[in-house]
Parts: sequence; structure tokens; C-alpha cells
Amino acid sequence: MGLVSAKEMLVKAREEGYAVGQFNINNLEWTKAVLLAAEELNSPVILGVSEGAAKYMTGFKTVVGMVEGMLEGLGITVPVALHLDHGSFEGAKACIEAGFSSVMFDGSHYSIEENISKTKEIVDFANQRGISVEAEVGSIGGEEDGITGAGEVADPNECKMIADLGVTMLAAGIGNIHGKYPENWQGLNLEVLGQIQDIAGKMPLVLHGGTGIPEDMITEAITLGVSKINVNTECQLVFAEATRKYVEAGKDLEGKGFDPRKLLAPGSKAIADTVKEKIELFGSKGKA
Ligand code: 13P
Repeated sequence: MGLVSAKEMLVKAREEGYAVGQFNINNLEWTKAVLLAAEELNSPVILGVSEGAAKYMTGFKTVVGMVEGMLEGLGITVPVALHLDHGSFEGAKACIEAGFSSVMFDGSHYSIEENISKTKEIVDFANQRGISVEAEVGSIGGEEDGITGAGEVADPNECKMIADLGVTMLAAGIGNIHGKYPENWQGLNLEVLGQIQDIAGKMPLVLHGGTGIPEDMITEAITLGVSKINVNTECQLVFAEATRKYVEAGKDLEGKGFDPRKLLAPGSKAIADTVKEKIELFGSKGKA
């Protein structure tokens, strides 16, 4: 199956009460590990690509070519969306033109008026091409690929204004942050999440900063309308740890252990294992 928009998989997830994982990718190994894990558990999946990661992989077209080739080469049958993460206005348009099947336009750092007008323009552009759109209200805290958010809690009325523009899914800041959570983190503001759900109706909600949120909070957030959960840092941490263990054990010095196909194998397996754990936790196993 080729790339699909995230719309159908998220509407189904919202109706049936589970969430689809967005796993950010950085290179070929990452992408392959995520796709094989989703296929093994028969789960829909969203591949997230930040503008920084796309630049690292030499551009949006390279990413589209790699992912499309891999879907065919690996015989992937589960629904896969290729999604721009925290896109700029220009980045979102460029991604759509390059063949992404889904984009996030993150206008949360603009005034609400400007966020509305720019989101509307992206929605119109994407709708004509069958591409799903994620919008954001209230910035997500922490830093990701140079994008820093203050970690606001979104205003439910502003969420409603953005939801009404015809977006596919809505990310709302509820105290979540990218990267590791600090010791004194207050947790997700589930009360505001509940208010957003009440006012935004059946809109699939997106939870960013999936790394390090306690499992019971994830499960509760799903009952309050979260249908897409983004995970990035956790895969990076397990990849780095497994690779470090391999090198520290001197395995790269044994035989052909320096071959990148061997050197990167433990890290790739660690990513796949993490993705499978998340798919189980989010409830999307068997939902392809
Ligand atoms: P983490 O890096 O905290 O898992 O967050 C990922 C994310 O929200 C991507 O948009």
C-alpha cells in the first residue's frame, strides 16, 4: 500500500478509543525499524519528520522517495502516513508538493488571528490534494530541532476556532513538553484536555512530547480524545544506549563487527522494541 493521509486512521482511532503513534524518523534504519514494528503488530503508523530531520536526510523529496521505496520493498500492508512535524508555513506547502501525505502547520507562536489565517490557507491547499493537516494551539514546551516552546496550556475557545477551520487533528498544549520531563513536572493538565474535548467535539486530538509521560496518564488522555501520540526522544535514547553497549563491549572490533549493518543493528532493534511497546500501550495493535 502506498502512503495514505492520516485522516481515516485517526477518525477510526477517535471512534474506537485508541491512539495511533507518530514516531519521528532520522534515517533509513529508523524508518525501517518503525515500519517493520508496525507491520508485525498490524498497526497503522505515522512517520514524523521535522524540518531539521528532513534537511539532515537531504530534503523532503529524498524522504518521500525513501519511504515510498521502503513500503514497496518491505511489502508493508498497514496504513502509513508520512507527516511533517511542527512545519512552518512554507515548509508545509513544500512538503505537500514533495509528496508527503500529511502535514502539521505549527502556528502556535503567532497571534491567534494569524494562526487562524495561516492554518486556513494550509487547510485549503492540503484539502485540494487529499492531505491531512494538524494544527497547534498553545505551544508545546521544551526544544525540538531548534523549535522551542514555552509549554503553554491552550485556551479551549481558541482550540475550537482552529478546529472549525477543517483541520484533521489538533495539537493542544496541556503542560506537555518535548524531550525528558523535569523532576518537578506537574503532569498533563487533563482537566483542560477534557474541556478541549467537550468544545472540539469529535476532533482527533494530538499529544506531543510522548517520551516519559506515565502510562496511566497516556491511557486517561486517550479516553479524553487523544488519538495521535508523538514519540521521538525515547527512540533516540534507546538507539544511543544499545549502540553504546555494542561499542563498549568491543563488538565493533570483533570480526566484521565494524560493518554498519552490524554496528547499527542493536540500535535498530531497540527502536523497533520501543515502537512495539508504544503500539501496545496506545491500543492500535491489530487496528490496521
Ligand atoms: P518527544 O521527543 O518528547 O517524544 O516528543 C515528540 C514530539 O512531540 C514530536 O513532535
